[in-house]
Amino acid sequence: QSSVLHKFKGVIFSTMSSEELLNSLDSFEAREDDVFLVSYPKSGTHWIAKVIENIPNARITLTPPIELGDISKFEELKTYCERRVIPTHLSYSMLPMNVKQKQCKIIYIIRNPKDIAVSFFHYYKDNPNLPSIETWHEFFELFLKGDVVYGSWFDHVLSWEEHKNVKNILIISYEEMKKDPSKNIKKIATFLGLNMTDSEINQIVWKTSFTEMKNNTAKENCDPNHTICALTSNRNLVFRKGAVGDWINYFTSKQKRVFDELFTEKMKHSELAKHFGDYS
Ligand code: A3P
Repeated sequence: QSSVLHKFKGVIFSTMSSEELLNSLDSFEAREDDVFLVSYPKSGTHWIAKVIENIPNARITLTPPIELGDISKFEELKTYCERRVIPTHLSYSMLPMNVKQKQCKIIYIIRNPKDIAVSFFHYYKDNPNLPSIETWHEFFELFLKGDVVYGSWFDHVLSWEEHKNVKNILIISYEEMKKDPSKNIKKIATFLGLNMTDSEINQIVWKTSFTEMKNNTAKENCDPNHTICALTSNRNLVFRKGAVGDWINYFTSKQKRVFDELFTEKMKHSELAKHFGDYS
């Protein structure tokens, strides 16, 4: 195992998430109006975060991820006065107890796992905070086994799916967001109890388009407090292609078969799995 990684409760984490912090997650004091922005890596976290940040009069602050850094994180999170939007890649079981008790609002982002695998592969290659990886083939094997940071995509999604009918959890899909951004932006705002006019929604659609966000990375890179992903603060690594279905350019027919078999087996009781049917 590489020096930039460590294991906690059987799941691989970056050493940027200290063991002490991970061990203390249950001592985090949630506020009733906290919003958690939860995702498996590469599901579109930066995108949805940008949408939320741009809702007019929302009076929210986007904080760094709860699992990034050391034990001082909880003190830091206390300093935010406004309603906190806290990003995280934690699975349901690791989410602080208090967040569940207080029934904080949670937005869980899902994305076609084949596209996630390809996006994650590039992230591994380009991100100095992750072990170096040579080939797509090599990464594909690790992804299948769940031997990547934050563990298996299947376990992550299934851990959250179990709770998807609870009213404080909203599921947003990358693919739906691509297809109809206005509709999904409205859904997010309504979930947070915020109203927007159509023209405000259109503004957000424009400001959070892939091109616009990619072009603005240079401006936003200088703010270290703007870290949304616990694996990098370098936004240049995030905006790669922003497309649905790029997996087709990477998966061999054998890899597709192997992946689909595993998907069918692991997701046989999953309703969310149906969503991905159109994209495989
Ligand atoms: P690709 O590598 O497929 O391009 P995360 O924010 O969770 O790390 O996810 C990153 C993925 O979301 C990347 O996928 C990135 O390009 C894509 N992404 C980021 N902003 C986006 C946007 N505004 N529209 C569409 N995709 C976006």
